[in-house]
Amino acid sequence: MTLRITVLGTGYVGTAHAVTMAGAGFSVLGMDIDAEKIAALTSGRVPLFEPGIEDLVNHHRLRGVLQFTTSYREAARFGDVHFLCVPTPQSPDGSADLKPLLGALEGLAPHLTRPALVVGKSTVPVGTATVLGERLAELAGHPAVELAWNPEFLREGHAVVDSLHPDRLVFGVSSAPAAALLREVYRFLLDQGVPLIVTGLETAELIKMAANAFLATKISFINAVAEMCELVSADVVTVAEALGQDPRIGSAHLHPGLGFGGSCLPKDLRSFTAQARALRLTGAASLLTAVDQINDQARNRLVDLVRAECGGTLRGKRIAALGAAFKPDSDDTRDSPALAVAEQLHREGAHVAVFDPRASAQARRACPQLDHGESLLHVCREADLLVHLTDWPQFRDVDPAAVAEVVRARRIVDARNSLDPQKWRAAGWRFTALGRPASDPTISLSGTLLR
Ligand code: UGA
Repeated sequence: MTLRITVLGTGYVGTAHAVTMAGAGFSVLGMDIDAEKIAALTSGRVPLFEPGIEDLVNHHRLRGVLQFTTSYREAARFGDVHFLCVPTPQSPDGSADLKPLLGALEGLAPHLTRPALVVGKSTVPVGTATVLGERLAELAGHPAVELAWNPEFLREGHAVVDSLHPDRLVFGVSSAPAAALLREVYRFLLDQGVPLIVTGLETAELIKMAANAFLATKISFINAVAEMCELVSADVVTVAEALGQDPRIGSAHLHPGLGFGGSCLPKDLRSFTAQARALRLTGAASLLTAVDQINDQARNRLVDLVRAECGGTLRGKRIAALGAAFKPDSDDTRDSPALAVAEQLHREGAHVAVFDPRASAQARRACPQLDHGESLLHVCREADLLVHLTDWPQFRDVDPAAVAEVVRARRIVDARNSLDPQKWRAAGWRFTALGRPASDPTISLSGTLLR
């Protein structure tokens, strides 16, 4: 008999996983305690922006292999394998708040009256799975109910592609039957040669924590180099490009700029730091703390640069903020560096008008004190300065000459190091960026730099 799958939590991870499982040939039931979300999904509307996801939800929904519910009882009755995809937000002390995860487990467990595997996908501190496993054994209505951990590595904005083509699969299990069942679930990926690591619960949990902390470390490392570049007139973009050519280093997540945000890297880094501190691992805790601090500093350095470009004060200045989402291809503004900077500029007396191709509604809700425009030209009207905050591809294609016609002054600060300085300077703009010299270096025919 074909396995039936439930996915508890229908956010980015859960919805992407649900459509992936439905595409793999399983019958899937998505469950969430948010009735509005479930009502939207049931009517074919996905209440989040993720390229390709709405079409897939509707495709599988209309085939009758993907349904949604708010009932734990229904989920428990339906599924053989239950994936927990609920968030683990940050507590005030920096550690992960496990209440939503525990709530989902405790909601589901008493209704499990036949053999089942409950599989955690959420990012958690090491040791969580063991605690949840014990709780599951206490509450489950059947003795053959077990817990496994299967961390996901998908990126927002690429959730569907990453779910369908993961770099690796990690199964954290405490028994051979649990590993065998997960192999059956992921057979379609294993048959395509996706590498599999089968390990214990703790190692599986730690793999995910370490992966996110390492990605954050790479970003903060290059941003620390950017700080040095600013003091010694070097160009961090060129440094990053050259570092990335070394296959031992690699160019991914080595893009300098405003740093990381979103609902994952910052809180996972802090949760990992809290755990390192609790274990009295002072070296690890200070390394991870420094990564977080460098990331925060990037926001302050940017505000300093914008203020300096405005002549030393932001009071009364009109700033056009290009971008609000924490990264491109996403409508997510949670812990967005772009919005944090826009808010700070506003606090210092600037009039800030924000435009984001996808996240305008979220930005408006999160920061009602800012002005929000429906187009780039709209927010640039009468601006004293443009600040490029989210690396949307469409911002790279903007025509500087067209924008020049509506602004008060031709000044732009590139906080994402992805605009072409020469294009903007050629159109008469003063172009500055984090970690880059304020003018283009002149290159002699022999290739040596002449300043
Ligand atoms: C991150 C990880 O990349 C995923 O592997 C992981 O599964 C996910 O968290 C999670 O834990 O669920 P995501 O939050 O979607 O994914 O974002 P990233 O693509 O990692 O970007 C995070 C932030 O870093 C963004 O604000 C981005 O603009 C910034 N960034 C990224 C840089 O500043 N420089 C870079 O080189 C790359």
